[in-house]
Amino acid sequence: MSYDEVYSRSLSDPDGFWGEAARSIHWEKPWDRVLDDSNPPFYRWFSGGELNTCYNALDRHVAEGRGDQAALIYDSPVTGAKRTYSFRELTDEVARFAGVLAGLGVTKGDRVIVYMPMVPEAPISMLACARLGAIHSVVFGGFSSKELATRIDDAKPKVIVAGSCGIEPNRVVEYKPLVDQAIELSSHKPEHCVLLQREQGPGTLVADRDLSWEEAMAGAEPHPCVPVAATDPLYILYTSGTTGVPKGVVRDNGGHAVAMHWSMKNVYDMEPGEVFWAASDVGWVVGHSYIVYAPLLYGCTTVVYEGKPVGTPDAGAFWRVISEHKVSVMFTAPTAFRAIKRVDSQGEFLRKYDMSHYRTLFLAGERCDPDTLRWAEEMLEVPVIDHWWQTETGWAIAANCIGIEKLPVKPGSPTKAVPGYDVQILDAEGNEQPSGEFGRIMIKLPLAPGCLPTLWQNDERYRDSYLSSQPGYYLTGDAGLKDEDGYLFIMSRIDDIINVAGHRLSTGGMEEVLSSHADVAECAVIGAADKLKGELPVGMVVLKDGVDRDVQEILEELIALVRAKIGPVAAFKKVTVVERLPKTRSGKILRGTMKRIADGEDYKMPATIDHPAILGEIEEALKGIGYAKRE
Ligand code: COA
Ligand code: AMP
Repeated sequence: MSYDEVYSRSLSDPDGFWGEAARSIHWEKPWDRVLDDSNPPFYRWFSGGELNTCYNALDRHVAEGRGDQAALIYDSPVTGAKRTYSFRELTDEVARFAGVLAGLGVTKGDRVIVYMPMVPEAPISMLACARLGAIHSVVFGGFSSKELATRIDDAKPKVIVAGSCGIEPNRVVEYKPLVDQAIELSSHKPEHCVLLQREQGPGTLVADRDLSWEEAMAGAEPHPCVPVAATDPLYILYTSGTTGVPKGVVRDNGGHAVAMHWSMKNVYDMEPGEVFWAASDVGWVVGHSYIVYAPLLYGCTTVVYEGKPVGTPDAGAFWRVISEHKVSVMFTAPTAFRAIKRVDSQGEFLRKYDMSHYRTLFLAGERCDPDTLRWAEEMLEVPVIDHWWQTETGWAIAANCIGIEKLPVKPGSPTKAVPGYDVQILDAEGNEQPSGEFGRIMIKLPLAPGCLPTLWQNDERYRDSYLSSQPGYYLTGDAGLKDEDGYLFIMSRIDDIINVAGHRLSTGGMEEVLSSHADVAECAVIGAADKLKGELPVGMVVLKDGVDRDVQEILEELIALVRAKIGPVAAFKKVTVVERLPKTRSGKILRGTMKRIADGEDYKMPATIDHPAILGEIEEALKGIGYAKRE
């Protein structure tokens, strides 16, 4: 069947389409309804059905003869460690860790926060939660203790599973003190913390609350899989919203398992038994879906890589992993390729490795600029596929579904809507835009299986944030266009979200932090273009009247404050003092205009600006920190 046929069937007959796809999953109890549309605008998939996601990802493969096949390869250039787990070994480890959690009182529906670096114990913890029907919430290691505390208060975990440290190329990041501070800051107090002690930076155990992974595992009994409802939550993953309060995206068990399994063949063209590598982090949605769940559900081998594209030890790191572990398909963010290209534009390192079994590169997380796409194609001599998705959807909304039919690539476009998603470009009034016209990118409800059914214990915020701007549609927050062939172009965000090295951050959240500084009267943060990371946050602050402290000192404090309150991942390093901020007569800060100035682009004087001279002052201030350059 062609892409067009598959796509139109997915929309005209969702019950038949996803009902067939769901046969690939092992169900403890079959569903009553494939698409449950009894309570719009909330839709559920496979209601009445029961399954266990961990069983489908692990035990089932052992039962079906894959026990000796590699399930997970851990490759850590930052520590020198390499370890392979077969499906049988991984099942045993997960079952035992589920026993540990059960011993600490974790049962179906309880939450467990996982705050770990890229070590096998991270997926093991996630799968152990899934095994018990408990709900994991993984927090990326680059977030601060305050961000961790916010998530603890929202998810109210019974247990936190942490690594004692993460290893960045330039330093060891002690995670345990961050966990302790977060528990101190939070109102909710988890009962226990299980700590994976790493020799590069062991942590201190708090008596009566903490226990080490090793000691806990030593006495643990394996725990069987607990069946859960298809509509029960598998995990919560917090993502940046338009304020400093992150959104707890909920993922269900049934729709997710079906979508993950289906995507491995149809989007990525994988076969069970092959090696799939998503070079991301388990703290991001890409890591949840394509390091942990999808490859394992499909019977593939997954790679857990603790390293960077460059510097661990060199720009050949990715090629070494692909060659050594016989990776068929790799998935990462364009920023990683920009980092490699910067160091090795001629691909000298690539020539050292046998890449003969490598088939396709998938990119996502940020817009893939055509230069990076072409460079990757020329170097690797394999198809390079940009695909577009977000934490909320959990898998691709638009892609070149090469497992169905490989469509021609148009640089700058992630190709067409994936089956299951009715993607439309709407104008401000809710009318569909003609092809080629810019507008808000919306998805007509229902969303495909696997997408968020709601936000954690917050139906109202789900409805307000995503469903209220256009009844019957989901607001993606992205803007762009569809061309005459139905190809989507994702051009910008319509909110204050910026994308830094494929990481999603809220400038509003950073503004909240800057405003909390005693000397700051008001401020603005914009995402300025960056050749490596796509965008970088740039702050402009107006100091309170009468502040006569050393300005440099204040700027350093502001940088340290964002690092402490949000985390190093914010990459907030550029901030300057301005006399005043440009505003409209109604008081709205003109962030869009400031971004154009920072990027050295032409800008129109906004008709509603209150003091036009301010823009000249802003340009001068931005020049002072290396922006507003005209090429
Ligand atoms: N724990 C603690 N700190 C972390 C961290 C973690 N897990 N991950 C990153 N950080 C820190 C970094 O050390 C850095 O700190 P610094 O300011 O002291 O240098 C800061 O957070 C910013 O990190 P990052 O954005 O990753 O920048 P980088 O300069 O270290 O690396 C790239 C740049 C492009 C190489 C890197 O971002 C990358 O590989 N990205 C591509 C893939 C990816 O992960 N995409 C995610 C979605 S698919
Ligand atoms: P996250 O939730 O962190 O995965 O970030 C999702 C956001 O990243 C999307 O809403 C887009 O703004 C951006 N994004 C992700 N993938 C792409 C892509 N392939 N092209 C353009 N933007 C992308």
